[in-house]
Amino acid sequence: MKRTIIFFAIIGSSILLSFMEKANGQTAMNNVYGRHVINLNGNWKVVIDPFDIGLGEWSAIYKDRKPKGKTDFVEYSFDLGPALSVPGDFNSQLPEMTYYESSVWYKRTFLYDPHENNRLFLHFGAVNYLADVFFNGHNLGRHEGGFTPFQFELTDYVTEGENVVIVRANNARRKDGIPGIGFDWFNYGGITRDVHLIETPMTFITDYSVQLDKKDIRQITGFIQLNRTLPDQEIILRIPELKIDLKLLTNAGGTIRFSHTSGPQLWTPENPRLYAVQLIAAGDTVHDNIGFRTIETRGTDILLNGKPIFLKGVNIHEEIPQRKARAYSEADARVLLGWASDLGCNFVRLAHYPHNEHTIKLAEKMGLMVWEEIPVYQGIDFTDPQMKMKTERMLEEMMNRDKNRCNVIIWSVANETSPSAARDKSLIELAEKARSLDNSRLITAAFNNVKFHGHKISFTDTVMKHMDLVSVNEYLGWYKAWPDDPGNVIWENTFSKPLIISEFGGEAVFNNAGTPDSASTWSEDYVEKIYTDQIRMFQNIPFLRGTCPWILADFRSPGRMHPVYQQGWNRKGLLSDRGERKKAWYIMRSYYRNDF
Ligand code: GCU
Repeated sequence: MKRTIIFFAIIGSSILLSFMEKANGQTAMNNVYGRHVINLNGNWKVVIDPFDIGLGEWSAIYKDRKPKGKTDFVEYSFDLGPALSVPGDFNSQLPEMTYYESSVWYKRTFLYDPHENNRLFLHFGAVNYLADVFFNGHNLGRHEGGFTPFQFELTDYVTEGENVVIVRANNARRKDGIPGIGFDWFNYGGITRDVHLIETPMTFITDYSVQLDKKDIRQITGFIQLNRTLPDQEIILRIPELKIDLKLLTNAGGTIRFSHTSGPQLWTPENPRLYAVQLIAAGDTVHDNIGFRTIETRGTDILLNGKPIFLKGVNIHEEIPQRKARAYSEADARVLLGWASDLGCNFVRLAHYPHNEHTIKLAEKMGLMVWEEIPVYQGIDFTDPQMKMKTERMLEEMMNRDKNRCNVIIWSVANETSPSAARDKSLIELAEKARSLDNSRLITAAFNNVKFHGHKISFTDTVMKHMDLVSVNEYLGWYKAWPDDPGNVIWENTFSKPLIISEFGGEAVFNNAGTPDSASTWSEDYVEKIYTDQIRMFQNIPFLRGTCPWILADFRSPGRMHPVYQQGWNRKGLLSDRGERKKAWYIMRSYYRNDF
């Protein structure tokens, strides 16, 4: 009897394991845009499933059933239903979907002619929040997480002629989610980013890193990884403008590690130099544009290429306010980053989740350094045993995707979490995990729990000791009264690290005079004074190395309910929801132009 139980236990755990492995798809191939792809963007037919019954046996929407014979009927239909644009959140596409938080089933067919010795993958830039993916009737698995890419292999299931992809996208907020139930942004759901088919040979380049050696800027170093553990496979690394054309051989693990002496022009905000890079392996070619730089801290300085730099930043949500929708395209990125550039920024904090790849790549071309973070935001339940696995996987997916983007200088593992034994342990482990994956960038988290002693401010959150720089969200003048005249406020550098003020600001309605000395009428003058006061304080912080006003533009947040001033918008934007410059915008721009 005992042996049988053990036997079933093994079988059971292997089934669970296989589902878990299937769950969250495979780690997405690096740089989908540099590969041989077929774009599946466009109109997808949908079934709207508010009670989320489509996975159940009665509806079984994933079977895309059709009525058989006169006595049969089916209570859904993709073909006779509406279509939604992919990429794009579903909330902004149909009026009845504005506050929708449940499942939408998407269907897309494509014609394909399978080629001998080819592999085929289905790659999603992101689906918020849960995605269940079905292909030609097979359940390929599930991905959890609304802001990182994932993929499934189709090779064994693709057929000649018409193939059918069905996706269940569910954006219901969850206590065990990342973020959790409560957050201050709009919960846009759906297939929110590009979808591609990726065709590869049987053996292909699945991952790579090409960057400057942190310890020796004359060395370009990195690795190239095949999808199979094949030794002695030749891979060519070509960087024509540097006259690099290396023929390299894989080791037993199918990996190449390389280091090559070269003198690239270093990437800087003023001169964001990128180099065309080709990786060529037995019929598989991946193209990328790579920049080379170093980033580090020394005492209380942040050094870019060995020189101290001040991060003139701004916070950005991934939203086009005029469209009331998730941003997802290069054109959208051009709008948001153009606004940041107009403000005089050299740095953007992409709050509070990894943004789409178009934004990161355009920022790199524009010379904007980037802070990227995972949505470990405020009310995360760190006692949930699943949390470690989920947060680490989300961190890996973010870092894996953007490790070749030289403008990403900071990885952040959390925003405004409350100290506790579970939270402290989780954040320290996440910081260590980030460092183990990538020791070439700065690791931080945003804290909102500084200690006030009269006009003095100090840091008591011991987790800060584990970060490369201290990042503080403070809303003096808005959520918290000034403890003294702003010019008298003293910040103590408890941990002797560089400080970034990662959020500050206040709410105002564009063009609203309100009562200039009162917060309660969302007055522009009131917020303008917050900004001039904040800058007077900044000038008194000798170890301040960056500022990020909250936030570039007004953004949607259902918790912001004042019927006159907010109407579901957080009004802390330096720009209105129509891109109009508030008075505080001019204060911030003059600060970044060193006019103060
Ligand atoms: C917090 C939080 C933001 C939020 C902001 C606000 O610091 O990080 O996500 O939108 O404050 O209250 O407006």
